[in-house]
Amino acid sequence: MKIMVACDHGGYELKEKILPHLHDQGYEIEDIGVHSPESCDYPLYAVRVGRTVAAGEVNRGILICGSGVGMCIAANRIPGVRAVQASEPFLAKMSRRHNDSNVLCLGGRFIGPDLALEVVNVWLQEPFDGGRHQRRVDLIDSLSSNAAGSESVSLTGKLGQKAYN
Ligand code: RB5
Repeated sequence: MKIMVACDHGGYELKEKILPHLHDQGYEIEDIGVHSPESCDYPLYAVRVGRTVAAGEVNRGILICGSGVGMCIAANRIPGVRAVQASEPFLAKMSRRHNDSNVLCLGGRFIGPDLALEVVNVWLQEPFDGGRHQRRVDLIDSLSSNAAGSESVSLTGKLGQKAYN
């Protein structure tokens, strides 16, 4: 599996701790920076990783900023990206099983390295469940392929189903 990784200054320290573990586990890693704790603008990195994932040039993306939130918001603007900010393993698991998340965002100022590694491991190993979740992911992806947010996007699925299934 090929993974593109990026961070800003708020995520630099955590990125440096995670990368060796990903290498040791045999993942092919492309680290596009930053390569020091210099201050930078995280959306530039989120967009680069998001576009590369959406184009299918890598299988997954991992983005790390101070909170994981800015990276996640920016990455989700790219059609085809399904980014999750996961600060614990269950979120990481469910985002894979139900949402087929393809970008993981971590908050370097909110999560310690050991927990972050557990989140990353779960996120990389959990499969997508498909089935009814595929239909829902397709509905999400149809938003970005049809002028997202405009009246022209029609979601015709059934509303009012029981939650959590
Ligand atoms: C940078 O100070 C910080 O705003 C950034 O790393 C991130 O947390 C944004 O969401």
